[in-house]
Amino acid sequence: MRTVGGCLRALGYHRPMELLGQTALVTGASRGLGFALASLLAQRGVNVIVAAREGRSLEAAADRLRGQAAVLAVTADVSEDAERIVAVGVERFGVIDILINNASELGPSPLPSIETLPWTSMERILRVNVTAPLHLMQLVLPGMKSRGAGTIVNVTSDAAVNAYPGWGGYGASKAALEHMSRTLAVELNQPRIRVLTVDPGDMDTEMHRAAEPGADLSALPKPESVAPSIIGLLEDDRVTSGRYQARWQPTPLQPR
Ligand SMILES: NC(=O)c1ccc[n+]([C@@H]2O[C@H](COP(=O)([O-])OP(=O)(O)OC[C@H]3O[C@@H](n4cnc5c(N)ncnc54)[C@H](OP(=O)(O)O)[C@@H]3O)[C@@H](O)[C@H]2O)c1
Repeated sequence: MRTVGGCLRALGYHRPMELLGQTALVTGASRGLGFALASLLAQRGVNVIVAAREGRSLEAAADRLRGQAAVLAVTADVSEDAERIVAVGVERFGVIDILINNASELGPSPLPSIETLPWTSMERILRVNVTAPLHLMQLVLPGMKSRGAGTIVNVTSDAAVNAYPGWGGYGASKAALEHMSRTLAVELNQPRIRVLTVDPGDMDTEMHRAAEPGADLSALPKPESVAPSIIGLLEDDRVTSGRYQARWQPTPLQPR
């Protein structure tokens, strides 16, 4: 596994990739990490397609992004509407250069053991965390291949590699997502079409609060302090397909 900082140090000087004018699809972008990523992309002049299920909060998030870049909000469930999301995105912007599969399903809260995890919940977890990203990748890849360039970011978790009690269903889905990403990268064998899996690390978000109800997560990094290192991967032309660990940056202290 590579950390973003370690990777950059090892590679020395780099030429940043220009994201301005590209188009990115970010799933699960109404809050949390997805919103933080969409926000940084918009600041760089990237056209952003944002998707989430709850229309009102998605529209509110999209309104905060507008003014910096062109934004298309698609109220949709990634497990049911992948074709529509990509179709309306391509209709509006012509291409999708960057796909960030960020939307994710945790499963029941509080987290059940593997022994008690309802298999129907596992079906839902796999559908959202594995099948939907696969479907979206299959829909954007033809365009990326015809242009000979593109970046896919599949957001994973350390639960994909470590056995944490209660996190087994979700973790198994992220392990599947990672393996699918590795295999796709090998099959594509095109350095300019990158398939990255990125573990953002623990963050103070709604999903994490659902995983640990009642726990005080306020000391965990906020998504906006983690997102810059993930965008840094997109902008670095030395970054190749692989698994990366995001690094969080401390938020500068506000003057009193
Ligand atoms: N938070 C952590 O500590 C942590 C750690 C490791 C990895 N991660 C990963 O980081 C990513 C972002 O998580 P987060 O913590 O930022 O979560 P979050 O704050 O709960 O945000 C999740 C976003 O995904 C959307 N979403 C959920 N299910 C969806 C579906 N089926 N279709 C479309 N949109 C959907 C949600 O909006 P709607 O509910 O309106 O659909 C929301 O916009 C996930 O892949 C997660 O596995 C998080």
